Amino acid sequence: MHVLDRITAYEKLGLGLFIHWGLYSQLSKGEWIFKFGKFSMDEYQKLSDTFTAEDFDADALACFAKENGFKYIVLTTRHHDGFSLYDTCGLCDFDSPHSRANRDIVREFVDACNKHNVIPFLYHTTIDWYNSDYQNDFDTYLEYLRKSVEVLCTNYGKLGGFWFDGCWDKPNAEWHENELYGIIRKYQPNAIIINNTGLSHRGEKGNIELDAVTLEQGCPELVKNFNGDKYIASELCLTMNDHWGVSLSDFNYKSPCEIIEVLCGSRKYGSNFLLNTGFEAQGKMPEIQRAYLNIVGRWMKIFGEAIYFGRPYIRENTTKNFILKGEGCLYIFAYNITIDGSENVTVNVEEMPDEYVFENVKDKISEVYWMDNNEPLKFEQDGENFMVNFTKNEYGTNYCVRVAKAILDK
Ligand code: GLC
Repeated sequence: MHVLDRITAYEKLGLGLFIHWGLYSQLSKGEWIFKFGKFSMDEYQKLSDTFTAEDFDADALACFAKENGFKYIVLTTRHHDGFSLYDTCGLCDFDSPHSRANRDIVREFVDACNKHNVIPFLYHTTIDWYNSDYQNDFDTYLEYLRKSVEVLCTNYGKLGGFWFDGCWDKPNAEWHENELYGIIRKYQPNAIIINNTGLSHRGEKGNIELDAVTLEQGCPELVKNFNGDKYIASELCLTMNDHWGVSLSDFNYKSPCEIIEVLCGSRKYGSNFLLNTGFEAQGKMPEIQRAYLNIVGRWMKIFGEAIYFGRPYIRENTTKNFILKGEGCLYIFAYNITIDGSENVTVNVEEMPDEYVFENVKDKISEVYWMDNNEPLKFEQDGENFMVNFTKNEYGTNYCVRVAKAILDK
């Protein structure tokens, strides 16, 4: 597969599900609790004896993701605490086959994804709090990291990609990235390679083997699509509350509407959107997060075509509204559409402008309609100005972001 095909195929996936799960999930205080809590390594390691994974059902997970429009899943196969959800084949006993669960979680995950046609991506930390070589003998540690990745590359069949995270912890170290990525290119030539640059370096480019820049928690406008001559993708990852790893005491949830807006805002810049859920102790998705994902899924059932097939077209506008270009059509993303009703029954009855203007629309349009109910919309074109009359959300609906489809003249 040509590099560009690999990257554009990845961009078409549009929506992915991020899963943080590990020993830390049993403590329900986020994935950094070993660092921020008061544990000795011995105490923390004991979590392996109580890790049963009894609630983890890879098949149900892959079905759920697919049903809700998520085309790929990124699973934390090893996080900073050094515990692996896969059989490291003797590299380190701190892994799920040596835990109480006695299971190779990555095997179950990849097999289920393949069975249900969802693409498996593997998150892998580059930081390691468990392996003392990380601090004391970095080159030996890097050899361990590469061997770990080789195990993942060779034991599970075809993978969608690798999602590394942590190099920001030692910004001045020589990570020998070429060697690490070389292993992936050797065994998994079509895998996407990502290395998260972290919150303070969003959108930053790096090694030429990397296929996408990362946008942790937002800022899609920072997308850069070229690294030298190489076209690269971008991906925005987002938590629903303020933690990646589960915290049942974190109530600071975004609204479903905010999440849908970030999804659309990512696609405006051509970014994939990777929405996170942190599994509970033994592999259960928290109820509230399941409900959120279901809402995103319901929105995707109506407007998903625009998310998968729409590519950046016109970004500049005076409002949040924007247009993506699809095959023979445009997708018009409209924010703040009012509910049709009266002020006595509906909350959201603000007045809307009669007409919305989009500039720089060169394509000739033959018809425009809402994607949710096929209602035709009045429009006019004057040179490169495109004027459309959005009608209100039908009473009984409020899509947060509503999408109209414009069919282009042949
Ligand atoms: C940050 C956090 C890490 C988390 C990642 C997800 O790098 O340190 O814990 O897994 O973001 O993007």
